[in-house]
Formats: sequence, structure tokens, C-alpha cells
Amino acid sequence: MGEVRTVGVVGLGAMGAGIAQLCVEAGVDTVGREVTADLGETARDRIGHFLTRKVEKGQLEQAARDEAVGRLTLTTELDAFADCDLVIEAIVEELGPKQELFAELDRICRPDAVLATNTSALSVTEIASATTRPERVVGMHFFNPAPLMPLVEIVRAELTADEPFETAFTFGGRIGKTPIRCHDTPGFVVNRVLIPLLNDCIRVLDESRVTPEDLDTGMKNGAGWPMGPCELIDLVGIDIHVHASEALYEALREPRMAAPPRLVRMAQAGLLGRKTKRGFYTYD
Ligand SMILES: NC(=O)c1ccc[n+]([C@@H]2O[C@H](COP(=O)([O-])OP(=O)(O)OC[C@H]3O[C@@H](n4cnc5c(N)ncnc54)[C@H](O)[C@@H]3O)[C@@H](O)[C@H]2O)c1
Repeated sequence: MGEVRTVGVVGLGAMGAGIAQLCVEAGVDTVGREVTADLGETARDRIGHFLTRKVEKGQLEQAARDEAVGRLTLTTELDAFADCDLVIEAIVEELGPKQELFAELDRICRPDAVLATNTSALSVTEIASATTRPERVVGMHFFNPAPLMPLVEIVRAELTADEPFETAFTFGGRIGKTPIRCHDTPGFVVNRVLIPLLNDCIRVLDESRVTPEDLDTGMKNGAGWPMGPCELIDLVGIDIHVHASEALYEALREPRMAAPPRLVRMAQAGLLGRKTKRGFYTYD
């Protein structure tokens, strides 16, 4: 396939809206699909709001902002992806719904389209197996928030062919991300390293009886981390981190992957970090 001209994004939640924003800012016509028209409008408003803030900060011209928002078409129908060169899926992190969606996309999309999943913890190979063209399925794993975090991991599943893999890699660069190539293994690259490391940090809270503030101060000043581990887990969401830990533990059976009991209890109590205004820290 030549250049990607039209992109579809399925699911305009936290990740999908951010990915759609990157695409329209890069000048790519984008079709965004939500389950209801209202959810679609909410996502478009959020994208418009972020781009307006960029105008206010002098990072974007008003006309460029309006053109970018104008490049996003909303739909509730998957048929709208029939002409897309690349479709990026960012729906709920469950294998069943993702496989159902990929089977539908397989029926609807052009044979030469590239189908990508933003899954964090599921197997791209297993998602691809729901289609008749697993060679055209790749992982494009963005980080949260997608417009701000530079990395995208381009994941080669068991049967991914070179051309769709390189198309996804090139597209990642075109929308301003720093792409890296990797294979379809649990946690891919960054989460495979980061999740057990953060879990170790939380275990140290109990073992060393250090406070979250002092642990964060320690890692920032002694290890050069830009954020402390407790600040980072609060930002990611304690429920999201516990979920990702469970998925990695399930796949690798290494004790360091399992969520520390302290985090599980926090998740059960609804102390989810920034989004609930209470986690290791409290937020106004
Ligand atoms: N949040 C993160 O930090 C993060 C980071 C990287 C990757 N991811 C991955 O991105 C994907 C989306 O995560 P998110 O945080 O944006 O979730 P989210 O809940 O914010 O958004 C998911 C969206 O998909 C839609 N949706 C839900 N179920 C659907 C279905 N069955 N069919 C079609 N649409 C459906 C919902 O309406 C919702 O808007 C997941 O696979 C997640 O693992 C998340």
C-alpha cells in the first residue's frame, strides 16, 4: 500500500480520542466511531477543547485548529471504514469484543487495509486470528495521554507481513510519534519492564517503611526518574495498573508481575489515583 490517506479509529475513549487528535493534527482524514452519536460528540468536543488550548498557548494557528477538527468525521457504523487505509482499534480491553470487532472489520475493510489494535495486554496474534487476513493485523500501542507521550510500540504478531508492519511504523512517525519495532510478547517492551518495576516500588513502601513522598523523592533524586512511582501510578490509575499487572502475571507467572496486595486493596476501596482525586496523594 502507498501512503495512508484515510484512517479509522474505533472507540473514542481516553486513547481513541487522543489517537484521532494526532491523526487530524497531522492532516489525515479520520473517521471516528463510537457506540452512540452522543459519545462521539463528547469525544469531538474534547479534541476541539485540547486543540483550542494549543491555540491559546500559541502552539497552533486558529485556522489550522479548525481545519484539524473538520477532518474528523463521526459515525456509529463500522461500514464507514470501507475506504480506510488503516483502522486503529481502541475499544474495551477484552478479547471477546475485540475479536468480534476485527471479524467485522475483516468483512468491511478493503483487502489492502491495515488493521491495528491499541491493546496493552492482550495478544495481538489472538486478536488477528479472528480475521481471514492475520498478515495485515499489527499492534500500535500508544501511551496515555497519546497526544503527549512520544512513544508508539509497533507490534509484529505471529503472522504479520512486512509491508503492513512498515506501513504502521511509518504512519506512527508521520503523526509525530517515536515508533519502535517489537514482537507480540506480554507487555511488549515498556510495560514488560515498567509494571514489575512499579510493583517492586510499592513492595518497598511496606518493606522499608518509607512514605510515598520519600519513595518518590528517592527515585527522582537517586535514580533520575522524572516522576516518582507513586505519582506515576496515581496518574495511570490504580485500577488500570492492577489490571495490567494481573494480565502480565497471568501470561508470565512471575511473582513480581502480580499486583501487590496494597494496590489491590486501594483499587477495591475506590482509591484510583488522580481520576478519583485520591490515591497515594489527594488532589483538589
Ligand atoms: N488508558 C490507558 O492508559 C491505555 C494505554 C494504552 C493502551 N490502552 C488500550 O486502549 C484501549 C482503550 O482504552 P481506553 O483507556 O481508551 O478505554 P475507554 O474506556 O476510555 O474507551 C473505550 C471506548 O470504546 C468504546 N467501546 C467499549 N466497548 C465497545 C465495544 N464492545 N465495541 C465498540 N466500542 C466499544 C466505549 O464507548 C469507549 O468510548 C484498550 O485496549 C486499552 O488497553 C489504554
